[in-house]
Amino acid sequence: MTGNYQLDQRGWAREPERLRALENACDPQTTAVLNRLGVGPGWRCLEVGAGAGSIAAWLADTVTPGGTVHAVDLDTTLLDQLARPALTVERLDITTTELPTHAFDLVHARCLLEHLHDPAAAVHRMVAALRPGGWLVLETFDMLWDQLPAWPTHPVSGQDAVTPVYRAFLEHLPAVDRHGGRSLIEHLYTHRLDNIGGQLHADLADLHGASRWLRLNVERFHAELLASGALSVDQLDRFYAFHDQPEAWITPPLQVSVWGRHPQD
Ligand SMILES: C[S@@+](CC[C@H](N)C(=O)[O-])C[C@H]1O[C@@H](n2cnc3c(N)ncnc32)[C@H](O)[C@@H]1O
Repeated sequence: MTGNYQLDQRGWAREPERLRALENACDPQTTAVLNRLGVGPGWRCLEVGAGAGSIAAWLADTVTPGGTVHAVDLDTTLLDQLARPALTVERLDITTTELPTHAFDLVHARCLLEHLHDPAAAVHRMVAALRPGGWLVLETFDMLWDQLPAWPTHPVSGQDAVTPVYRAFLEHLPAVDRHGGRSLIEHLYTHRLDNIGGQLHADLADLHGASRWLRLNVERFHAELLASGALSVDQLDRFYAFHDQPEAWITPPLQVSVWGRHPQD
């Protein structure tokens, strides 16, 4: 399946590690938002672009007893390993596959829309899948500021080892919108959802969370970045050296979460 996934990373040997670092960075805010909306036993949930599945698993545990979670992704290799009675997994492309209509109390998608050529069409499908009163929750990052070492005087963390690499990554691989987070709320108004809200969050990024995820994003596109002429081998080596030490704290992108409720008839 080719699917519709810009910056497709499926099949890369370190993709599971990259997805898990993303989960380490994002899950605390995601679960806080879902708790705030009252997700609990009996809810029927759809997790779109479920990745390595930490939120699908959390939802499956949270909606039990009585609830269900349907987790979908272009690649279900990691999801298939999550055995939960409440959880079903399906391999599908959200840009081409119809979903059940009026079926879910919650539809959640994190770090997905910015990868799609036509995010609005995907949101349209997600909204149609909500039952009246059901919640749509969309999340992604917004690189409101540069990624900087949070300990600039540290011997390995000179700013020039970090910021130029992230800038080159965003400039030469422009398929991902660095300000995707601030585009999310518009979708909720387009679909006239009720009870619209949102939350921003950022923990300083560390070796296990966003810092690792960002390092792996760069590593995945190492050859392309060298070929672009934007970065040298030495710059990339210093970038990796910084990120591989325990003090690899950086200022992270902001995690943006927005939510809205399908109007009750
Ligand atoms: C950046 S990862 C985010 C994973 C997960 N949502 C998370 O935040 O931890 C993007 C995920 O979306 C999936 N994906 C990309 N395009 C898709 C599409 N057209 N239909 C379904 N899933 C898609 C990818 O396979 C990948 O698992």
